[in-house]
Amino acid sequence: MAGLALPFLLPPIRDQQLEYTKYLNFLVALTARRRNAIHVPSKPFDLSINPSTACQLACPNCETGNGTMTRPATNLAPSLHSHMLAGVADELFIIRYFGTGESLLNKKFPELMREIRGKEIFTFMTTNLSFRFTDKQIDDILQSGINLIGVSLDGITQESYARYRVNGEHDLVVSNMRRLIERRDELGLQYPLVEWRYLVFRHNEHEVETVRKLAQEYKVDLLEFAEGYAPRDDPAAPVQRLEKFNVKQAMTGPALDAATRAKNTVMRSMMMRQEFEHRLPPRQLKFRKCDWHYFSSYWYPDGGVGPCCIATDISEDFGHISMENSFADIWNGPQYSDARALFHKGSTSESFCRSCRSKPTMDRFFITSVKGILLNAPSWVLKTLAQDTDRFFLPIDEYYLSNELKALRNFPRAYNGNFSDQVRHIRKLAERNIVMEPHLKPLAELLETPLNLPRRTFNDHLAETKGRIRLVMKKAKYAVNTLR
Ligand SMILES: C[S@@+](CC[C@H](N)C(=O)[O-])C[C@H]1O[C@@H](n2cnc3c(N)ncnc32)[C@H](O)[C@@H]1O
Ligand code: SF4
Repeated sequence: MAGLALPFLLPPIRDQQLEYTKYLNFLVALTARRRNAIHVPSKPFDLSINPSTACQLACPNCETGNGTMTRPATNLAPSLHSHMLAGVADELFIIRYFGTGESLLNKKFPELMREIRGKEIFTFMTTNLSFRFTDKQIDDILQSGINLIGVSLDGITQESYARYRVNGEHDLVVSNMRRLIERRDELGLQYPLVEWRYLVFRHNEHEVETVRKLAQEYKVDLLEFAEGYAPRDDPAAPVQRLEKFNVKQAMTGPALDAATRAKNTVMRSMMMRQEFEHRLPPRQLKFRKCDWHYFSSYWYPDGGVGPCCIATDISEDFGHISMENSFADIWNGPQYSDARALFHKGSTSESFCRSCRSKPTMDRFFITSVKGILLNAPSWVLKTLAQDTDRFFLPIDEYYLSNELKALRNFPRAYNGNFSDQVRHIRKLAERNIVMEPHLKPLAELLETPLNLPRRTFNDHLAETKGRIRLVMKKAKYAVNTLR
């Protein structure tokens, strides 16, 4: 969803305190991933939260739609949502508010969104939008603060649409999508962007060019064609998968054009000046490890914590957040630790991640997220990364993030320094103003950790450092508050 466009759509973080919190966490998370850490002192920087596991449609290849979902149909309560996010919201760059289920069936959705106002988290969802909305409900969605709404509309007539979207009403969805756009513009809101998301199967492939024209007529901000999944071996199934998905320009739209032209950050303008390169990684690197255990987590409305978008069965959950515990207990609890241990040579871990059903998918979310975060990174982060990219990135990143790494390596050095100069620079910044730069000192200490420390020692060091960061943060917040 929004795949290729997402990195460009993310806005820079405006608040300085949040910028430090988010980017420091990001650097620690990259370091933990780089080291295959089992105990991870950073928090996720991109979360998936499912507001509802219920749905009014019956799409045949969706677990919710075809009734194979192993979870009860529930809506996420605002109180549980706040509790789940307590202690992790400030670090987040992105929340994906959807999963298997229809997010807008949760009538408290605008309330959930209000909870994270001011945290500068880019939020998005996909929805079937097949609802009889009142004008107030349309306004509530628009004013909720959500940044991007993907509308699942895979047909231009009721017949072609309902082949997959069983129980959906084509004209109603079109009308709602247009209402959202028109009313947003009337209200003068920048967000939400509205994306028309079209799954291409064999029965609707011929509509692609007409959809492009209609998208312009409806003034959608983004148009995305994605491959519709269907089992290959069932000729009697209601929808059939394409032999090969070969829709050219699968992601288009004025919002993408504007976002890719923007040069408002150092990294954006650097990337624009360099030649684009695309290399595929060798097979042995491709399935090496799972990024999800370092950057994200997949949450359900009943408090269930799943490891990723693939392991959706309730039996595969890594834990459950209730009012009595917190995400931190699960993030470094036995299930996550076991899954991370899997990536160590000779591991005897029994985690079901060993036989993951969809290994190539693992990196996709991570890559788009990191690309966007880097595009907006402030100079102190770019300098830190540029001084020694090997401390933060894995060999696989040389392929999937090749353009970003190239730009980092060409980053114009403010001084002719090496990595220790950068660490000294961070220390100086920190000493100059401990209130405004509270994170930089512990970060400098973290970066000074020799790269070849034994893994256990390094993990302990990260944990300690993170503890110190929290303490400094607390003091700084207190100092800032007393100054007001
Ligand atoms: C499971 S849905 C839940 C959100 C919402 N109910 C919707 O349909 O947009 C999440 C995403 O999966 C997509 N999806 C559903 N069935 C699919 C299929 N057979 N192949 C590929 N994507 C699919 C939807 O279009 C949507 O973008
Ligand atoms: S609308 Fe979305 S959640 Fe509902 S059945 Fe279809 S794909 Fe599944």
